[in-house]
Amino acid sequence: MSTPHLQGKKGDYAPTVLMPGDPLRAKFIAETFLENAVCVNEIRGMLGFTGTYKGVPVSVQGSGMGMPSIGIYSYELFHEFDVQRIIRIGTAGAIAPEVQLRDVILGQAACTNSAFADQYRLPGTYAPIASFSLLSAAAEIAKKQGLSVRVGNILSSDTFYDDANSLAEWRKMHVLGIEMEAAALYMNAARAGKEALCICTVSDCPLEGKFTTAEERQTGFTAMMQLALETVASL
Ligand code: HPA
Repeated sequence: MSTPHLQGKKGDYAPTVLMPGDPLRAKFIAETFLENAVCVNEIRGMLGFTGTYKGVPVSVQGSGMGMPSIGIYSYELFHEFDVQRIIRIGTAGAIAPEVQLRDVILGQAACTNSAFADQYRLPGTYAPIASFSLLSAAAEIAKKQGLSVRVGNILSSDTFYDDANSLAEWRKMHVLGIEMEAAALYMNAARAGKEALCICTVSDCPLEGKFTTAEERQTGFTAMMQLALETVASL
């Protein structure tokens, strides 16, 4: 059965889905790394593909930008397509002073300024966290690959252009980086009883006005992609 945003039938998605924000990145990943990839979604140009990596079934689905967007796609994948785990692969801005351009961050937890958690009507503040098994598998694979990763808190923000200029405050709490999707993904996974992880490559240092080139982003993305795929193959 298709959903409002995904045209596939049950079984069209693998139990593990990688989610880049950019649908063209999903296409690049499918064409570069997957065997026998078929396109399973084209609605709104939010491309999705299913194939295998080293014989393990895996899907790659674009999420779009921001928590409402990844909230929709991850909800439909978890609830309507029997997806068991989603690994977001995206970019982040550095917040903590030691975080450098091109570093890879594993989002152990995701702070947020979004109201996404309000829907759960909790009598307190929810702490969105990654699946420990995905997090520890990814950390282990990174070590084997000789890829140094930073593991810690990230910030999922509702704003890219932020009038409040609040990154210095998050830096005081040792938040490693800023992106715009992980907290909603982690909450959807928790509510569905499923697993999620966010892996990010640092594309910019907003506090220092430093940015990677498009080419550097592509290279960094490839290292992160291989980390995510090897993690999937190791499960
Ligand atoms: N802010 C928010 N999201 C981001 C950034 C940023 O600086 N860089 C990459 N994703």
